[in-house]
Amino acid sequence: MRIYQEADYEAMSRRAANIIAAEVIRRPDCVLGLATGSTPVGAYKQLIEGNRRGDYSFREVRSVNLDEYKGLAPTHDQSYRYFMQTNLFDHIDIKPENTHVPDGLAADPEAECANYDELVRSLGYADLQLLGLGRNGHIGFNEPCDCFVKPTHVVDLTQSTIDANARFFATADDVPRQALTMGIGCIMAARRVLLIVSGEDKADAVYNAFCGPITPQCPASILQLHNDVIVVGDKAALSKLAAAGVSVCE
Ligand code: GLP
Repeated sequence: MRIYQEADYEAMSRRAANIIAAEVIRRPDCVLGLATGSTPVGAYKQLIEGNRRGDYSFREVRSVNLDEYKGLAPTHDQSYRYFMQTNLFDHIDIKPENTHVPDGLAADPEAECANYDELVRSLGYADLQLLGLGRNGHIGFNEPCDCFVKPTHVVDLTQSTIDANARFFATADDVPRQALTMGIGCIMAARRVLLIVSGEDKADAVYNAFCGPITPQCPASILQLHNDVIVVGDKAALSKLAAAGVSVCE
């Protein structure tokens, strides 16, 4: 595992975008696993700029997103499909038909999960899977629980996640209680994982994920078993790793 410590959110975003861009340049038809949340927004901005400058193209790139709220339409301004359109896809030259996000409105969510798993498998899994990190250690919407859930599945969101994501909705009551999420299986099958993290409120989650025991109570801790993980964080988010003497690249 390589850990890059950056001074702030801007520098973290730049480093993350460079790693993603390098993948696209090296493998123009790569499969990118993409994430939502506030953390990747800065990296997506950098990728849009690089694409506009003509530094690289997403024309042949395929993308698979981690998750979607159950019950939200793609046009809902808090759906993850909408997030991806407005924060990335609408501004780069990726082909719309090459972008994939689970369907939050699927009549049969279980079947949608099984189909999504099959889709990701048929694409050969992500060459590079981008991940954010929940304050409770979740990745995608894999919440702390008694076992690691491998397939794409419907998940009940924990109160901690509902509270953390309430800032994006009019009220906490508007936050969907369930989501469809890629499971630990597809995430661990990615060739390379890039986890980005920013802010002091994530410092405990980072510490638990990379210095604590491998446990489904901290889903990100499974990444300790992946052989190609890059963590890019700002100083605040990595502060507890540094305090524990974990070596980081600057
Ligand atoms: C959400 C998403 C995750 C994301 C996490 C952190 O619940 N499902 O994929 O990594 O929360 O979000 P943020 O980056 O806004 O802190």
